[in-house]
Amino acid sequence: MAPGSGPDGVWHARRQRTPARLTAPDPQAPAASNDTYVLGNDAVELDRLRLQHDLWRPTLRASLGRAGLSPGERVIDLGAGPGFVAQDLARIVGPAGRVLGLEQNPAYVRHGQQLAQDAGLGQLDMRCHDLLSDPLPAGPFDLVWCRWVAMFLPAVEPLLDPLPLCLTRGGRLLFHEYVHWDSFGLHPHGLAIARFSRAVQRSFRQAGSEPDISRRLPSLLAARGFTIEDLLPLPVVGRAGTWPARWLEMFVTLYGSKLQALGLWSMEEAEAARVEIEASRADPGSFWMGPTILEVRARWS
Ligand SMILES: C[S@@+](CC[C@H](N)C(=O)[O-])C[C@H]1O[C@@H](n2cnc3c(N)ncnc32)[C@H](O)[C@@H]1O
Repeated sequence: MAPGSGPDGVWHARRQRTPARLTAPDPQAPAASNDTYVLGNDAVELDRLRLQHDLWRPTLRASLGRAGLSPGERVIDLGAGPGFVAQDLARIVGPAGRVLGLEQNPAYVRHGQQLAQDAGLGQLDMRCHDLLSDPLPAGPFDLVWCRWVAMFLPAVEPLLDPLPLCLTRGGRLLFHEYVHWDSFGLHPHGLAIARFSRAVQRSFRQAGSEPDISRRLPSLLAARGFTIEDLLPLPVVGRAGTWPARWLEMFVTLYGSKLQALGLWSMEEAEAARVEIEASRADPGSFWMGPTILEVRARWS
């Protein structure tokens, strides 16, 4: 992604125009019994997910193009969050298609339902669902989409095992999960940021999940009878002031406080990271790299 190439470059304006509509959990919705999402589910995280989605939208669109997503198709979005991707998927498949977003957090489900209602997307449905324990809807679906979800699960088998049952013959799987967290960095002088990346990985592993889960996904899918059609690394790089830099700086600030609460990151380290970030803004040659995503495209045949 080119530095400064934020999608339409309107993040700040958009944040002011569209305040977070994270509402209280729906008492009618099934309780999220098994919430393993370590980043939390408050309005700040909702805003972070929105920025993240906007930043990655061009990559998402290109990826859906490679997967041949077309009008009329039926898509299931696993761990759909507040429904940002589901909304894009629904626009592509159109009124003749169907998108089902499954998400454990009732407030995110309500947010996604509201997005669908506001945009008149009758083909988009969001449901409260725990991927670790609830049976997948039978479908059939033509495409399964899953981004930044497997990396938070204490076990991926409950996510992967039911997939053949909900896909048509020839149906596609599209995963965007991290493959190389060690590529997260601020260069050339980000020693505290490098320590931050290691602390993040430690926190995920302590919670029982694997941050670089894409290293295992292709072989787990092949063992379940899927044909691996493509593996594509998706790096992200940006100089200070660009969208990728803002996204990564925001993550250091927000997740840094959670790491401190976990005892994995000290106030001194947070201060050292702040100083490095300040220095990077004054150095036109300084740049951020995000953790590299691996796109995994597979087919059920
Ligand atoms: C980083 S967010 C990604 C959201 C969305 N996939 C996206 O790309 O914007 C991870 C989401 O996975 C959801 N999640 C984590 N574990 C889950 C589970 N066991 N069942 C359903 N959703 C889960 C979280 O609640 C959160 O909304």
